[in-house]
Amino acid sequence: MCGIVGYIGEQQAAPILLDGLEKLEYRGYDSAGMAIYNEGKIEVVKSKGRLKVLSELTHEGALLPGNLGVGHTRWATHGAPSDLNAHPHENTEETIAVVHNGIIENYLKLRERLEGKGYRFISDTDTEVVAHLLDYYYKGDPLEAITRIIHRVEGSYALGIIFKEHPEEFYAVRKDSPLIAGHAQGGNIIASDVPAVLKYTRDVYFIENEEIARLRKNDISFFNSDGEPLTKMSKKIDWDVDAAEKGGYEHFMLKEMYEQPKAITDTFSPRLKDGMIEIEELNMTEEEIKSIQKIMIVACGSAYHTGMTAKYVFEEMARIPVEVDVASEFRYRNPIITDNTLVMVISQSGETADTLAALREAKERGAKVLGVVNVVGSSIAREADGVMYTWAGPEIAVATTKAYSAQLIALYLLAMKMSQVRGTIDADQLTGMIEDLKSLPTQVEMLLENKKKIQKFANRYQAAEQIFFIGRGIDYAISQEGSLKLKEISYIHSEAYAAGELKHGTISLVEEGTLVVSVLTQEPLYKKMISNMEEVRTRGAFVMAVTVEGNLEAEKAADYVLYIPKTNEYFMNSLAIIPLQLFAYEIAVGRGCDVDKPRNLAKSVTVE
Ligand code: F6R
Repeated sequence: MCGIVGYIGEQQAAPILLDGLEKLEYRGYDSAGMAIYNEGKIEVVKSKGRLKVLSELTHEGALLPGNLGVGHTRWATHGAPSDLNAHPHENTEETIAVVHNGIIENYLKLRERLEGKGYRFISDTDTEVVAHLLDYYYKGDPLEAITRIIHRVEGSYALGIIFKEHPEEFYAVRKDSPLIAGHAQGGNIIASDVPAVLKYTRDVYFIENEEIARLRKNDISFFNSDGEPLTKMSKKIDWDVDAAEKGGYEHFMLKEMYEQPKAITDTFSPRLKDGMIEIEELNMTEEEIKSIQKIMIVACGSAYHTGMTAKYVFEEMARIPVEVDVASEFRYRNPIITDNTLVMVISQSGETADTLAALREAKERGAKVLGVVNVVGSSIAREADGVMYTWAGPEIAVATTKAYSAQLIALYLLAMKMSQVRGTIDADQLTGMIEDLKSLPTQVEMLLENKKKIQKFANRYQAAEQIFFIGRGIDYAISQEGSLKLKEISYIHSEAYAAGELKHGTISLVEEGTLVVSVLTQEPLYKKMISNMEEVRTRGAFVMAVTVEGNLEAEKAADYVLYIPKTNEYFMNSLAIIPLQLFAYEIAVGRGCDVDKPRNLAKSVTVE
């Protein structure tokens, strides 16, 4: 996810672009840049770091005079955050400048072809191919060149494009990345999202896939992918700026929960090729995969919980022993790392101090370290021997939801790949799992539809003083995450227990009316879980169960049941966590808590 803006009109472009980019910083913030046309030249200023660095560099835009420009705030995908990889990107003659949000999937192929024709690349980005490809097709007519590239480029894009030879206009085009246009300040503007334009207009044109917009000072024209004119109607926006940034959702956390189907798809789809799993970033030969004797997973908080889930999945599916550690413990416990130990560190931010220190510790002890990371170019991504990215996009709410879901998918993919190479699953099992994986986004969408129902239930427990979560196996890992989500945002005391462990002490805390959330998605453990639910119920607990459709037995032992659809048992966490996230969210909202910024917490914990 990145944010783009563009402006042409009577005003100075740079301050308008900076203002728009500021409203889009939630879409990415590792680097920013602008290209402004002025007196026969396109001037580009770009820099690694947040938008304020660009603002300072340009004296809030004053050093970049001109009435036409495009700007970008970046969330790195291809190419680590750096001055060079920041947008805009240009062709070699600096006559075409491009800003891009999205991923050009066939950029390597296009880059090779263009290099073969003598084009020279200076960045590691996928976007630079667009600038050179436009140069290749441009014969004086920008519209013609854009229609040609639409047919060559695969993947997703929202592009803002300036042609030096056409200073009276600029262009925008999109496929599968959002893009809007509107009238602004004696001119016209494009942006990735509504907040960037709300200051100027509430009448917005939503540009559809493969539509092209040409913006001039006094008009906006639209064309289809063959360059034929289109008539479009604008839509009235009635959100305020704050709501618009959250896409109309009340909180970033809620928005991000609803982005989970996309985060899941974006994480698995680039790794599924011809019915097989390809994880290029794994950077391991089949021999190396076969020789792994132990995996050590190290992470903190929710990322640790995905590691807990992965332990069950790797051990069962790939038959590799797995140890899971919280990073702050791992680094001080003198871990035993042998030649054939693979260390996996999991981190959304890629900057968590304990996880980073654990990575360094593991490397010092000679381990090969694989990072599962969301932020491209982060410290963990840079220092790990290999990195598998989770494509969740920027996560703003402190409590993780979509990055957590994306981490699970990355770990399933790794387990499936290793199992396939080590021969612990056969081709039919793999095909079945891939099909189940592909169904997850739609199933998550369905589960999110239960929001109202869960809200009603949550309303009854807003005054609860403590809530317990129980589960066995993977369900224990799910319970830990459900419990963390609840306590961190609602401030209700909550613990998760391996259900069989309750009777060794904790059950004494259960009293009349105590809510116990029971997760039972693993069929071989149903009966055991039913007994544990009965144990707490006879002591007065109110039991809410999260289980799989068809498990009617749960109704006998629970007071309230939420069903999730069937999927492979290894993938149950991806579904069962959704009602638990909604439950935590609704309780916290009901208690009037600051859901996106819970007290005492930070999004990225860079201190020990
Ligand atoms: C909880 C949460 C935290 C993080 C933990 C690790 O909702 O978000 O527990 O999971 O601080 O952070 P990363 O993944 O950035 O290393």
